Amino acid sequence: MECAVTTLNKVLVVDFGGQSVQLIARRVREAGVFSEVMAFDKLTEERVRAFNPRAIILSGGPASVLEQNSPQLPMFMYEMGVPMLGICYGQQTMAAQLGGEVASGAGRGEYGAAKLDHYAPMMGRPEVWMSHGDHVSALPPGFALISSTSNCLYAMIYDDKRKFLGVQFHPEMTHTKDGAGLIRTFLFDLAGCEPDLTQASLLDEAVAMVQRTVGDTGRVLCAGSGGVDSAVLAGVLKRAIGPDRVVCVHVDHGMMRKGESDMVADIFTRHFNMPLHVVRAGDLFLDRIAGIADPEKKRRIIGAAFIEMFEAEAKKHGDLQYLGQGTIYPDVIESTSFFGGPSKVIKSHHNVGGLPPWMRMPLVEPLRHLFKDQVRALGRELGLPDWFVRRHPFPGPGLGIRVPGAVQRWQVQMLADADEIYLKAIEAVPGLYEQIAQAFAVFLPVMAVGKMGDNRVEGWGFMLRAVQTDDFMSVEPFDNWPKGFLKDVVKRICMDVVGPGGQRFVRGGYDYIGKPPGTTEWE
Ligand code: XMP
Repeated sequence: MECAVTTLNKVLVVDFGGQSVQLIARRVREAGVFSEVMAFDKLTEERVRAFNPRAIILSGGPASVLEQNSPQLPMFMYEMGVPMLGICYGQQTMAAQLGGEVASGAGRGEYGAAKLDHYAPMMGRPEVWMSHGDHVSALPPGFALISSTSNCLYAMIYDDKRKFLGVQFHPEMTHTKDGAGLIRTFLFDLAGCEPDLTQASLLDEAVAMVQRTVGDTGRVLCAGSGGVDSAVLAGVLKRAIGPDRVVCVHVDHGMMRKGESDMVADIFTRHFNMPLHVVRAGDLFLDRIAGIADPEKKRRIIGAAFIEMFEAEAKKHGDLQYLGQGTIYPDVIESTSFFGGPSKVIKSHHNVGGLPPWMRMPLVEPLRHLFKDQVRALGRELGLPDWFVRRHPFPGPGLGIRVPGAVQRWQVQMLADADEIYLKAIEAVPGLYEQIAQAFAVFLPVMAVGKMGDNRVEGWGFMLRAVQTDDFMSVEPFDNWPKGFLKDVVKRICMDVVGPGGQRFVRGGYDYIGKPPGTTEWE
């Protein structure tokens, strides 16, 4: 999908496969300038000129410009008269393509913190984050050396005439002291961008995007999962084309949290005055994934069943041509090889990477360019209550990806009960829920032995998980629990949850892994 945003100041972030490409896009947006990531091998002249960038940023990446067929920027982009920032691999390919030289680190790369020896816009000797093998070894014509570290001569280079800046370090990483300041200096002082990306403009753009896509008569089925994203989507659709051309549908796939579907229906009716049609399809979904242990297969089956339900509902409600989904930017990035981008696919989020090829309804995804915090801000602007806007996210495939391997109904039931006890306990401690980005329980399909009263009991395990993060691209395990909190919750779940046929939990643990090397969800 091409850019829907019409702000004057747009930054094109070229993806060379670096892990922090989305962080670059985020830093630019935090500076108030719209940014979009495009893969280096999808940069046709027509596409780039249509995007009309005010500035271009080249990301890092795993390749070496010394290898044959290494990724390059199309030459026309150096000649567009658009200011450019090359980061790490981006700096190296810029230097090599423009007549400079790059040398191999010969196995002696530089990883971690380093100090810049001088750098005019910053005070002192700021610490920067390095992660590279190769380095620029000779400047291209027109460039001057700005700053070095003890290990890297050309840590920062600049061509004042073309406004091309190259940095070997990573200003997008928080480990680089005031790296965001450097990005702002590039955007505002060198590239002449204006910060015109306001919340109001984001809402206007989302509304305009819907209007452009569906025209004067198109009608939209709004897929309401129950999360903030889909509620904001409903608000945007209503504002764009009025309530009569939108039908909101919530599919209860039988793997929701307790009471979730009723709460969703309440939010839609009460706050948007739009009825939500709830389709109870638990049996269908659970039958379809029965015996399927592979997580990606489960995701695809669930994704396809969602689309099947939505297409059937669209017919029922009379000629709904479009499917509105609350897809947001991190969903797009992590499922990115769907678009053939060089970043690796981590998981196929069902509404992005798991869409079935037979799907007929064209998509309307006006939040596709937004990060979670921006979606939350739109939610507040649309009048959604604060408690709802602040809710932790919940994945489309629901508890289905929190029971590793093949899912059985009774496991989902026991997990939903455990999850409810855990979340209620968190909500009961003032301020705790807000410190956590996402908390949930995971079913462990492992049999263990326990003792209840005088009886030997065989039962199952579970894990409690809670993470802190800005954007879910990387997460840290939450580690600030009130004393005794986890012990109490684990005990309560083991005592109170009784599954069909008297099944019990007899083991409970806390998941201390971050992302990387783990991921937020277990599958
Ligand atoms: P991971 O596990 O990828 O999760 O670190 C990052 C965030 O994305 C949510 N998530 C999903 N959301 N469909 C969704 O709508 C999915 O298939 C999916 N997988 C993960 C996850 O809950 C977390 O907030």
